[in-house]
Amino acid sequence: MLRVLFVCLGNICRSPAGEAILCHLLEKEGLSEEVEVDSCGVGAWHIGSAPDERMQMELGKRGIPVRSRARQIQQKDFQKFDWILAADQGILRELQGMASSPEERAKVILYTHFSNKYPQQDVPDPYFGERQGFAHVCQMLDESCRALLKNLSG
Ligand code: 4NP
Repeated sequence: MLRVLFVCLGNICRSPAGEAILCHLLEKEGLSEEVEVDSCGVGAWHIGSAPDERMQMELGKRGIPVRSRARQIQQKDFQKFDWILAADQGILRELQGMASSPEERAKVILYTHFSNKYPQQDVPDPYFGERQGFAHVCQMLDESCRALLKNLSG
C-alpha cells in the first residue's frame, strides 16, 4: 500500500480537489486498494469544513465526487505517508521545515513534480480569485495526477 498526502493552505480548495481527482483516477484504473490518498492544510482556519462550494461545483461538472473534511497537517503524517505533495513553493518550504529527518524531507514534492505540461509549477491558490481559477486548478490537478499515477504504477 502506497500512501499519498495532498497539502495546501486551507484544505478546502486545492488539496481536497487533488485527493478527489487522484481517487477518481485510481478507481477507474482499479487501483483504489493499492493507494491510500488523503489531504490536509498547513493552516487551521477551516478545520472541519467541507471543500469550497466553487470547487465542489467544478468537480461535480467533471463527475468527480468529493467528500473530505478539512484537517491540519500533523507531525505523524510525515511518517505515515510515502509522498507529501505540496500545492506551491510556499507550502513546499513550510513542509520541508516541518520534516524531522532527511528521509521525511525527501518525501515532500510539488503536485506538479511529474507533470510534463506544468513541470514544477505552483498550483495557484484560487480562493480569492475568479471562478475560472477553479477550473484551471482542476486542469492542472488532472494532468499532474495522471502523471503521478503513471510514475507510481510504472
Ligand atoms: P486552499 O485555498 O489552500 O487551496 O484550500 C485557500 C483556502 C482558504 C484560504 C486560503 C487558501 N484562507 O485564507 O482562508
